[in-house]
Amino acid sequence: MENEGLSIVDKRTKTTYDIPLHKGTVRAMDLRQIKTGPEDFGLMTYDPAFVNTASCHSAITFIDGDKGILRYRGYPIEQLAEKCTYLEVAYLVVHGELPTVSQLKEWVSKITHHTMLHESTKNFLGGFRHDAHPMGMFISTVAALSTIYPDARNVRDPGVRQLQIYRLIGKVPTIAAYTYRHGFGYPYIYPDNDLSYAENFMNMLWRMAEPKYRANTALARALDILFILHADHEQNCSANVMRSVGSSQADPFVATAAAAAALSGPLHGGANEEVLKMLDEIGSKDRIPAYIERVKAGRVKLMGFGHRVYKNYDPRARIIRRAAGQVFEVTGRNPKLDIALELERIALEDEYFVKRRLYPNVDFYSGIIYQAMGFTPHMFTVLFAIPRTAGWLAQWQEMLQDPEQKIARPRQIYTGYAQRDFVPIEKRGA
Ligand code: SDX
Repeated sequence: MENEGLSIVDKRTKTTYDIPLHKGTVRAMDLRQIKTGPEDFGLMTYDPAFVNTASCHSAITFIDGDKGILRYRGYPIEQLAEKCTYLEVAYLVVHGELPTVSQLKEWVSKITHHTMLHESTKNFLGGFRHDAHPMGMFISTVAALSTIYPDARNVRDPGVRQLQIYRLIGKVPTIAAYTYRHGFGYPYIYPDNDLSYAENFMNMLWRMAEPKYRANTALARALDILFILHADHEQNCSANVMRSVGSSQADPFVATAAAAAALSGPLHGGANEEVLKMLDEIGSKDRIPAYIERVKAGRVKLMGFGHRVYKNYDPRARIIRRAAGQVFEVTGRNPKLDIALELERIALEDEYFVKRRLYPNVDFYSGIIYQAMGFTPHMFTVLFAIPRTAGWLAQWQEMLQDPEQKIARPRQIYTGYAQRDFVPIEKRGA
């Protein structure tokens, strides 16, 4: 349609190009025709950190950053958090529809029967120092699973992909729990197939000498809700890594390990651990103004605030804040919450944050709940990686099934030297 496109005038050649719009975007390859002559490579786009670049079509997650909307496969996160279990949401995220009774029963059974780790994995974990960061152990152990399941490399086979999806969603809680137990020198606890996903995770974390672990149902439900909230978030940094590594047809275990590595950064999933360090550094409400001044001076960031997409309150943060109350009824109130609430109140009234549209994100309150549950801060990002594994796998599978996708290989703007000749070492530095 005539008005569904752009007319671009290249002033260098006085040529006008009609560029069609594709779902509100310009296909970058449509710009390649814009040249100054036959020798010219043609136009590319330049977008460091992909701030304004769509890399794929995706039907998994929708976010409206201005309105603070998050939906998985069209369902509002608020409804899913209230009405679903995490495995039900994981099925939705991976398969695109809420499961029927029989579909959910089979999905839960398959995942439950893939929670066990190959015994050699315990020796692998045993090689880490007692004080190794759990994320380093988690990332390495997930990658090591690729050596246990060489069949996973056959990524073009739907049945092979499905089996690896069962394996990864089933095993990440076991790996996470083993990294936790390793830090304390406790024996590893095997999965208990009688328990739900969250209850079994708690069993592998906290069971000691008792013959059968009895999970606190309120805490198990709170974990399930936290897992639902962290399941996917469209093309975030770690999802982009999962797609990029998966695009070379590497197996899903090493791709998931790479995604978890991206998540571990303090600007991404590592922020929840940094929030607790920040709250500890602030220490009390009366010291908040001084910290805010340091943030405004650009010396520190307000961890757990800000987002590339949300320019409004992260809907997940709102739900987590509400879930905190239910957890504290069991664990006792985490005093850090008072500092966090006051920090949020002050920040949301301060022009620096208002102008930059900085609001609490998913990481601002999650750590306060995790700490109240008994987790140490360096476990927090592992708790993020567990549920996000379903989202990473959904993104990975969607990428492999997309006929437009192929191995990811961006271009660059070269800023280095033109050709120059070799310099013998005796003449260098002259
Ligand atoms: C997650 O992408 C996802 O969806 C991620 C995630 C998911 O579910 O996968 O939602 C999970 O990673 C949440 C984000 C967790 N990270 C943090 O809480 C770390 C603190 N936040 C910032 O580092 C930052 O807000 C980012 C990284 C989250 C977003 O950064 P952007 O989009 O690149 O924004 P920016 O750095 O360009 O900031 C714009 C302005 C800058 O100020 P000016 O240069 O204009 O003066 O806002 C400032 C920034 O300095 N700013 C902050 C700030 N975040 C942005 N200033 C102080 N504290 C902050 N937290």
